Amino acid sequence: MQISSRGTWSGAVGFILASMGSAVGLGNVWRFPYITGQYGGAAFILAYLGCILAIGIPLLLAEFLIGRKTERNPVGAFRTLRPGSPWVLTGWLGVISAFVILSYYAVVGGWVLHFVYLSLIDSFSQKSAAEITALFGAMNANPGLQIFWLMIFMLLTVVIVSRGVSRGIETGNRIMMPLLFALLLVLLVYALQTERAATGLEFLLRPQWQKLRATAILEALGQALFSLSLGMGAMITYGSYLSRQTNLVRCTFFVAIGDTLVAVLAGFVVFPLVFSFGLEPSAGPGLIFRTLPVAFSQLPASYWVALAFFVLLSFAALTSSLSLLEVACAYFVDERRWSRKQASWTLGMAIFLLGIPSAIGEEFLSFMDGIATNYLLPIGALLIAVFTGWAMKHSERREEFAIADGSAFRFACWSVLIRFLSPVALILIFLHQLRLF
Ligand code: TRP
Repeated sequence: MQISSRGTWSGAVGFILASMGSAVGLGNVWRFPYITGQYGGAAFILAYLGCILAIGIPLLLAEFLIGRKTERNPVGAFRTLRPGSPWVLTGWLGVISAFVILSYYAVVGGWVLHFVYLSLIDSFSQKSAAEITALFGAMNANPGLQIFWLMIFMLLTVVIVSRGVSRGIETGNRIMMPLLFALLLVLLVYALQTERAATGLEFLLRPQWQKLRATAILEALGQALFSLSLGMGAMITYGSYLSRQTNLVRCTFFVAIGDTLVAVLAGFVVFPLVFSFGLEPSAGPGLIFRTLPVAFSQLPASYWVALAFFVLLSFAALTSSLSLLEVACAYFVDERRWSRKQASWTLGMAIFLLGIPSAIGEEFLSFMDGIATNYLLPIGALLIAVFTGWAMKHSERREEFAIADGSAFRFACWSVLIRFLSPVALILIFLHQLRLF
């Protein structure tokens, strides 16, 4: 067998931490608070929780299951399960999505590193709001600077991935994830003690049902997919390094709960700060890079708070980028027999080059993001759901599920969700993206 040369997690804890690391990312700390603000606070959060439970969790389980069953990258996984069929294209779509997403995700990761640097050299304290806001614009107007930080971010990603599944990815997550949780708790305690924290909390906890339209529910679903890293085989790849003994159902719940908790807690950090200073919960990258530093600058211990926040964000971004690079890397290692070193360095270089246009122009970055989140991921997720629910035989699904979990009831629930609810919901998202619904 070539399992040993592919690598494996050291155990369930390593697997859960790595998958949580993939899931917890910029999506949780930046995007979730901002769209929650847009779509009515608590009402949106409830819709989001519903999407995680009814669609996110069944799909996450499906990806883990396909990965563990085949012990392959997404292309190899579909090829193994349905040799010679067009289903292999689902795997290909995943590998392409990995390139597309990482190329701009790494640019934003580079911004975060630049802000870690700005925090380190104490750039926010004793400055006016206008001066602080200008820092983000200055960085955006400087392609050389962004390309530099993009390169650093990709270097960190490649160095970790090239060290292997357990020595690189797992070790990286074992270090960064606990620190991320610790920093989040410190920031939470801090944010809740600011003077007008209650205004921010009220915004998050009091549902404004009238803002919750169909669009908001579809937005919640798209966010649930992105946040759980679904729809491109990242979780197939991570599942493929898992041993047979692990209880998949339990791991799935751990990852989903951890990811959701971080998103909600990030909201509890961001909104009290934003509202305490009468700042707008404005759209786009601005909320984190423009608005929050202004809030930090007016708070006690601003130096340490800003540093803690951007270090947290860089860990979140880095642990997610590992999973994106690993999808492409696993394909070249499994199917093309490249060494892991060769695969990670070559692919890292290619993705760095592909990222340069996004570093030069923010429009290109938004364009790539739009392609990925509006088309590639929903289509990928739909294909994975249909594959698991309809192309796989009942007995195939049942057998793999039953290895770790004998409950007929849980299996029946999952089957219904993955066969009916997930595909219908995903088709609705997609029609909505095309403005047909
Ligand atoms: N889930 C990560 C976030 O919330 C991003 C991410 C990592 C991702 N791997 C992925 C998104 C695979 C989609 C697919 O930021």
